[in-house]
Amino acid sequence: MAIKFERVSYQYQGHDEKAYLALSDINVNIEKTGEFITLIGETGSGKTTLVQHMNALLQPSEGRVHIFGLKIDRNTKKEGKVKLNPIRKKVGLVFQFPEYQLFEETVEKDIMFGPKNFGISQKKALELAKRMIKVVGLDESYLSRSPFNLSGGEKKRVSIAGILAMEPDILILDEPTSGLDPIGRNALLKVFYDIHKTLNKTVIIITHDMNTVYEYAKRVLVMREGVLVFDGSPLALFSRKNIENWNLDIPDIVKLKTALSEKFNINIEDSPRSREALFKSIKAVIKP
Ligand SMILES: Nc1ncnc2c1ncn2[C@@H]1O[C@H](COP(=O)(O)OP(=O)(O)OP(=O)(O)O)[C@@H](O)[C@H]1O
Ligand SMILES: [Mg+2]
Repeated sequence: MAIKFERVSYQYQGHDEKAYLALSDINVNIEKTGEFITLIGETGSGKTTLVQHMNALLQPSEGRVHIFGLKIDRNTKKEGKVKLNPIRKKVGLVFQFPEYQLFEETVEKDIMFGPKNFGISQKKALELAKRMIKVVGLDESYLSRSPFNLSGGEKKRVSIAGILAMEPDILILDEPTSGLDPIGRNALLKVFYDIHKTLNKTVIIITHDMNTVYEYAKRVLVMREGVLVFDGSPLALFSRKNIENWNLDIPDIVKLKTALSEKFNINIEDSPRSREALFKSIKAVIKP
């Protein structure tokens, strides 16, 4: 087990002395390898707060998180016994807002920052920067530019390249495709899926896009008002009866399958997860 939450609650201390309970009694386990998880839930449900506990950016107010064998609880910072920096290398977190992550004068320096911080040589870090800028769909000419003069989507890609360059064991992406055009979004999703497939790494993606959840995820976590209300497969999630109560959209494929089944009175037995698979299933039922 790479990450284990035990009865974790987290309170933000508000300005007006009111504490806000953002996570409530969370128990969840994440494996070191082989997982492809999407984390969903409406705005303000605690998704970002949850993943910030996975690399110890935040420490629980109650309960504990075990990260690669290190115990993190409310006393961790005060005691100073656990070194948090190595955790950030093992569990790479791409922030929801790239502005929080980019701060160097050039894109190249920004991407090289993580690897160099973790003891990689200048030469190897530069190689990584050149490789990762391409992996995220930009060319080398971006390396000499200032990260602050990029478009929102370009900033997002650079911030992802910076985390990929650290070659973390677990990769967590907080809404990595928001604000990207559909082609760019699909290309990046394929990049994350390839990392999972070829290197067998655990990848966790926060998203509001239910199509992504349905097509890619092996496992879905649903947050609602600070509580983890679902942990299971996308198929199980979207065949639940009361799913509307959670304010989640239904994936296009599920809507289409239901509409076609009703309209033509056919029974599509398997559960296709992509458009291509749905067309195949329909062809199998509708004989000319
Ligand atoms: N720094 C903060 N101080 C006080 N409250 C906060 C702080 N950050 C977040 N919160 C509150 O905690 C709750 C959970 O926030 P969080 O950012 O984890 O939600 P989220 O599910 O990631 O939402 P979104 O989909 O909009 O990104 C929200 O109600 C939010 O207002
Ligand atoms: Mg968020």
